[in-house]
Amino acid sequence: MKNKILIMTMLVALGACSNHKKTESLYDQLGGEPVINQITSNLLDRILNNEKIAFLFKETVREDLHERIVSQLCQETGGPCVYEGLDMVEAHSGQEIKYSEFDVFVEDLILAMEDANVPFTLQNQFLAIFAPMREDITYQ
Ligand code: HEM
Repeated sequence: MKNKILIMTMLVALGACSNHKKTESLYDQLGGEPVINQITSNLLDRILNNEKIAFLFKETVREDLHERIVSQLCQETGGPCVYEGLDMVEAHSGQEIKYSEFDVFVEDLILAMEDANVPFTLQNQFLAIFAPMREDITYQ
């Protein structure tokens, strides 16, 4: 009887563990705020110096954009943040961003994640969240 109870307890504990793993947010899997912060910093280093798209950011105050991107990435990956910036259409309106420029940005985002040592599977999950925003961001 005691053994049965012990086995039952272990199964319940194991179940709880595996459930926990399944529901862990992408934000937590990435490593939370420090990693989101690092990805954003790497991304800004690249896009602000990438001659193919840097001209779009000539009026940009880096610290302000950093803060907004961190907040948005945190919210969208399931972290404990509320993004209060402009929505994606408003944020990019008047810029006429082309598909080719969007692709350059995404390439820089991938390199930014590589530089932050984000594992390939998590990179893909990350891109799956942001790629669908393309239509809101381009040609506005
Ligand atoms: C999924 C991809 C993208 C995300 C998640 C994103 C996110 C953001 C966010 C959160 C802001 C700040 C909004 C605010 O001011 O409240 C912003 C602004 C901006 N984004 Fe994006 N963006 C993306 C793609 C792009 C691309 C492809 C370009 C250009 C190639 C771009 C250029 C800009 C510019 C120029 C601003 C204005 C910066 C400023 O206020 O000075 N974004 N974006």
